[in-house]
Amino acid sequence: PTPGGASGKRVLLAKPRGYCAGVDRAVDTVERALETYGPPVYVRKEIVHNQHVVQTLEKRGVIFVEETDEVPEGALVVFSAHGVSPAVHEEANRRNLRTIDATCPLVTKVHKEVNRFAKQDYDILLIGHEGHEEVEGTSGEAPDRVQLVDKASDVDKVEVRDPSKVVWLSQTTLSVDETMERVDQLQERFPDLQAPPSDDICYATSNRQVAVKAMAAECDLVLVVGSQNSSNSKRLVEVALQAGATSAHLIDYADHIDESWLDGVTTVGVTSGASVPDVLVLQVLDYLQERGWGEAEEITTANEKISFALPRELRKDLSDNP
Ligand code: F3S
Repeated sequence: PTPGGASGKRVLLAKPRGYCAGVDRAVDTVERALETYGPPVYVRKEIVHNQHVVQTLEKRGVIFVEETDEVPEGALVVFSAHGVSPAVHEEANRRNLRTIDATCPLVTKVHKEVNRFAKQDYDILLIGHEGHEEVEGTSGEAPDRVQLVDKASDVDKVEVRDPSKVVWLSQTTLSVDETMERVDQLQERFPDLQAPPSDDICYATSNRQVAVKAMAAECDLVLVVGSQNSSNSKRLVEVALQAGATSAHLIDYADHIDESWLDGVTTVGVTSGASVPDVLVLQVLDYLQERGWGEAEEITTANEKISFALPRELRKDLSDNP
């Protein structure tokens, strides 16, 4: 059918959207661990920040815990994609837990940067969201060297020992534009501020923001599929609004759409966060089709080909028992 048809109603679908390589690997890790070792498999924190993924894995025998002290001595625990501090690894060792670390390699990269700059005695200004698991893990690499910069007002609070030895690093799932604003503010205070050796905001986060920007200005409404605790998904709503969408909402499922959002709407944009399986997006497209919107037109701004190997601890057992 002609997109939109006679009604002029259009659906634009952002590409890339949905699963990134780190989420794909983390979910696959838990699924393979279930198959290889059998349930229960413990996972510290949500493996990825998505309700549907967490609930589906729970039904298959995964037990999600907040901390390793809830895991029975000797049992198997998977660390989530967001990463953990060295203290968490130590605690798991002390309690003889078997661990599989599903930390995204792009988060591990930031952990290594923290270590390297801390060893060179830098003060590290970590741009990120207070309380987010990734930031807790990353800061935990060098707690006495890292200061968190979240809001603009945090910039004035930062205190460094030597203004010529300051570096900024960041959480992987921030808004690219907002982060650069924060960097400019920091640079005004610390003209010698150093930048990360390579981008800390990951390819998936920035690609999804570029894609939603490309369609936002044409949209009366942008629907972002993702969970409330998903940082990169929330950023997509903000970026859509900043890029000119008339309205934008974050929804976990198609049935969270409020019919009144569609009043007077012609063009709907759809995208999803990096932790969202595409089946949830397809349900949103079905919902729109049932209400008179046409086939979705995909708006492509990048083709992603990145994938990561499964964690070594797991690969070893997979090759032992193919
Ligand atoms: Fe990794 Fe970026 Fe996804 S840090 S888990 S690839 S959103």
